[in-house]
Amino acid sequence: MFQHVQPYAGDPIFALVDAFHADPRPQKVNLSIGIYFDEQGRLPVLPSVQLAEQRILAEGGPKPYLAMEGDAAARREVAALLLGRDHAAIAAGRVATIQTVGSSGGLKVGADFLKAWLPGSAVWVSDPTWDNHRSMFEGSGFQVNPYPYYDAKTGGVRFDDLLATMRSLPQRSIVLLHACCHNPTGVDLSRAQWDALIPVLRERELLPYLDLAYQGFGDGIVEDAYAVRALANAGLTFFVANSFSKSMSVYGERCGALSAVCADKAEADLVMGQLRFTVRRLYSSPAIHAAKIVSHVLADADLRPLWEAELAAMRERIAAMRRALHARLVTLLPGRDFNYFLTQRGMFSYTGLSAAQVDRLREEHAVYLIRSGRICVAGLNNDNVGRTAEAMAAVIGTPG
Ligand code: LMR
Repeated sequence: MFQHVQPYAGDPIFALVDAFHADPRPQKVNLSIGIYFDEQGRLPVLPSVQLAEQRILAEGGPKPYLAMEGDAAARREVAALLLGRDHAAIAAGRVATIQTVGSSGGLKVGADFLKAWLPGSAVWVSDPTWDNHRSMFEGSGFQVNPYPYYDAKTGGVRFDDLLATMRSLPQRSIVLLHACCHNPTGVDLSRAQWDALIPVLRERELLPYLDLAYQGFGDGIVEDAYAVRALANAGLTFFVANSFSKSMSVYGERCGALSAVCADKAEADLVMGQLRFTVRRLYSSPAIHAAKIVSHVLADADLRPLWEAELAAMRERIAAMRRALHARLVTLLPGRDFNYFLTQRGMFSYTGLSAAQVDRLREEHAVYLIRSGRICVAGLNNDNVGRTAEAMAAVIGTPG
């Protein structure tokens, strides 16, 4: 029956995590997957989340099915977090938010919805992007194409080329954009670039689909939502998938959402109906514990500021590690430009290391990063940053 099934090569990110765990070398460093580790190298349990869970446990109660679209309080809080509580789009009822199984679940529900209702469209993703973007949209039946993004020469964005591509796309093309903390490069559009892009998206009648998995890890919760709010303020119709996996350190709870910001309430109601149907066909309804964590942390007068402070501390620790890695590398390899570590935002840095250099880092120095040269800066700490810099300098400075 299944002899024709092709072997699965494995996911490049998850496979690397498995290889890291199997590595017996005590000095190993995990800079592979986009997970925040604290200064002790542990996955943090945020006190805000812990307190929320204590309250949830104390409240007790049954565990019924949630509605297909998820918990109303959690959905309300998510829309407010994305757009600001008093945003006119929310007041006008033109935002349809559903709770999803992580933001991956949101991306997938949105992809299936779009294949059903914009079947002739293609999807455009940044070059490069998170590997799974392509897989997800192809899995929903889309043709997926790259648009110019990262400029290896300058370490910036090929913004003129990006705009020129957008101007050439057919109407209703779906354009996947990273709202902040671009994965894998850490290179974001500036506010001025968003402001220049938005009129083109509108004129060409493109559908922006924002991925917001790292809100709060760039410059702040509100700052990182700039693109979401700018698109909504400009009156565009768009999708945004957002995640709490990283920002609340609740990876396995699968706390995420998908929001469709529509032209008016009537359109939002139609979209909501079909999103509910899409969920019903995929996994029926989302998880109740995930909803309770999100609504308790975001809505509670004590827990919300605590969470915001915890998120700020994670963001600041990453920034400190960027500075520490930069300082060591410029000492070890004077004359080379490592400034990109300071200008890139969020968990990731794109080092420009070749796949061969990445292999040497892993094999000779037990430093794990994915083969594109992306490092997860949140895997660094004061204990391992020195030897990571030395390993990097060794493979940069000596030919393999
Ligand atoms: C990453 O890019 O490492 C994260 O988004 C985790 C994942 O699922 O790949």
